[in-house]
Amino acid sequence: MIPGDHRQQRDKGLRMEAMADGYRKMSDSYEDEEERKHFQRIVSAFKYYKPHSLQRVKKTESYLLSLPPHHQKLLTKYREHLQEVKLCIENNDDIIKLIIKDVSHIFENVNPSNTHTDSVRQISMTLNPRPVLADQEKVQATIKQLVRDWSSEGKDERDTCYQPIIDEIIAQFPAEFWNAADVQVLVPGAGLGRLAYEIAKRGYTCQGNEFSLFMLFASHFVLNKCRGINSYQVHPWVHQYMNNLLAGHQTQAVSFPDVNPSDLPENAQFSMTAGDFLEVYTESNHWDCVATCFFIDCANNVVQFIETIHNILKPGGIWINLGPLLYHFSDMPMEDSIEPSYEVVRDVILGFGFQIEKEQTRMKTRYAQNTNSMLQCEYQSVYFVCRKSKKELTYVNGTESGN
Ligand SMILES: C[S@@+](CC[C@H](N)C(=O)[O-])C[C@H]1O[C@@H](n2cnc3c(N)ncnc32)[C@H](O)[C@@H]1O
Repeated sequence: MIPGDHRQQRDKGLRMEAMADGYRKMSDSYEDEEERKHFQRIVSAFKYYKPHSLQRVKKTESYLLSLPPHHQKLLTKYREHLQEVKLCIENNDDIIKLIIKDVSHIFENVNPSNTHTDSVRQISMTLNPRPVLADQEKVQATIKQLVRDWSSEGKDERDTCYQPIIDEIIAQFPAEFWNAADVQVLVPGAGLGRLAYEIAKRGYTCQGNEFSLFMLFASHFVLNKCRGINSYQVHPWVHQYMNNLLAGHQTQAVSFPDVNPSDLPENAQFSMTAGDFLEVYTESNHWDCVATCFFIDCANNVVQFIETIHNILKPGGIWINLGPLLYHFSDMPMEDSIEPSYEVVRDVILGFGFQIEKEQTRMKTRYAQNTNSMLQCEYQSVYFVCRKSKKELTYVNGTESGN
């Protein structure tokens, strides 16, 4: 995966709702064997992080040892650096252990491993005798996402990606006309939850939604277990073996969280739901605002995302979007995908009856970027604010009719 590529492959989780200190599955049974296996697979992926990552270093070390002695001598510093790399992996693994420590209790009304404990363990071992490479990339991406969302090093990224959205919400729902707590904001594809948290911190009622268990496990750890500022460290770039100017750039430690996640105003209304946005949000005319950041290109069919956003917004409600169109399923042979240009997406937005109120292209944005790297990836994202018509319109086979 290219550094800065924000795509997360499909990792459909469960339909649950996050409460104060846990996530609640939205139905009260846990019958779906597939879901149980999926849960265990993600736990296994986190558990395999250390052996998998160390294996990569050991391969380099053995090659190094096979080099002519005078080459080895010249590379003494490099060999020492690889020792450092191994320590960083151990440190990351300590954080991972904390992240997965209580995940069997993460969903308040469900314990995916208390029934059939042994058989579930058995399944996870037989299904994944070796780490799945794609899952390991997701574990690494989750560590990098901690930087984007919850570190001071991620501030510049957040200022360019999240701040325009937050400013727009404040401009659309100013305190002199609105009681912020009455304004319902939804953030689909919430990642590790920082944007949703920042919106709630400003008094709005905000719900983040996410379907990746990688993200949900990590956000649960940050939001519900981290107390105090910068109390933990990760080494997010330790798996980047190339394009390092200094050895220390690869082993750099980043502290998190840069704020105390529990420092929300007492009456703050902040929640997270777990599950597929398309399945969880079916109630029409509910939300005052939907805020999407690096999200709409996660769809197989972006039109379905736009249709859902239109449906769940109240008449007159607004949709704020920022991000590129790096269609996540575009190059996956087993997945369906359409990849309309922004020009076409724009027509679709208008076709559903949205009015575009603000629009800007070529917004320079980055995603979980290692700023020290010799390779940089920058998106020229689109940003827009659009409003659902105040008059309720229904669409029958693509034809508009007023109510
Ligand atoms: C590229 S990330 C962006 C995360 C965050 N908004 C940010 O800007 O850092 C997209 C997120 O959307 C999530 N996602 C994708 N499709 C989803 C769906 N149908 N329902 C809920 N979450 C979804 C992915 O798991 C991923 O965490």
